[in-house]
Order: sequence, then C-alpha cells, then structure tokens
Amino acid sequence: MKPNIDITEAHQKEIAQLLNTLLADEYVLYTKTRNAHWNVQGPNFIELHKFFETQYDALDIIIDDAAERVRALGHFALGTLKDFITITRLSEHNHDFSNDKHIIQTLLEDHETVIRFLRKDISFISEQNKDLGTADFLTGLMEQHEKMSWMLRAHLT
Ligand SMILES: [Fe+2]
Repeated sequence: MKPNIDITEAHQKEIAQLLNTLLADEYVLYTKTRNAHWNVQGPNFIELHKFFETQYDALDIIIDDAAERVRALGHFALGTLKDFITITRLSEHNHDFSNDKHIIQTLLEDHETVIRFLRKDISFISEQNKDLGTADFLTGLMEQHEKMSWMLRAHLT
C-alpha cells in the first residue's frame, strides 16, 4: 500500500534513492570506523579504541534510521554489502590503518564528504520535492556528522 502523504510517487522514489545512497555511505563509514577500533595501535590505544567505538555506535543508529526512513516512504532499503559497495560515494581504497593520525584523517575526510553530500541533498529535497520531514531528518544527521568531525579533527591539532 502506497503512502498517501502529499509527496508524488516520483518524488518518493527519488528521495528513497538518495536515502539508499546515504545508507551505503554510512555503512562504509561504519565499517571503516570498526576497522579503526580493531586495528589502531600505539600509546593512545585505549583512548582511541573507545573513541572509535562511540563513533561506530552513533553510526549504527544512523544506519538504522536511514533504512527505516526509506521504508516510511514506501520503498525498500538496500540490505546487502554488494549493493552498498556498488553505490557508495566513499572509497574503501584508503585503508592504511598503520598510523593513528592517518586513520583519523581518513575518517575525518569521509565524514566531511558525507556532510557535503547531505547539505546538497537537504536543499534538493526541501526545495524540489517539498519533503520537509526527510530534510529535517537529514539536517539532524548532518549536525551529528559535524560533531563527529569536530571530535576527529580535535585529535589532529
Ligand atoms: Fe570492540
């Protein structure tokens, strides 16, 4: 049964595609953050090990919320790693996790990439598609990524 929420079917489909792309990005970033949690080394090990855990826990909640937002718009959420890696806008190539500064820099760049895409998607969804619910949801996610970016950046200065 299709949602009758005053957003056209075409717009719901378009928004669901944007959300599924975001879902893929968040899943890749989640995996990279778990990689950091597992493989970080050095004198700051315990602090960074715990810090990365708080970040992947936050990303885990974001992933679930993004997938369920797709469902609320009447579409199916992507649910395979193959799909995620096919459509993500992030790269897995940069995975030299031998140095803690490098790990943090890599994750920071990924968060900032997600923020830039979110900013663009929020404008598009609110102006073109008039879906203020999704625009508000994405704005909340953008703020969370901005806070996580600050915490990563603070380790580098
Ligand atoms: Fe753990």
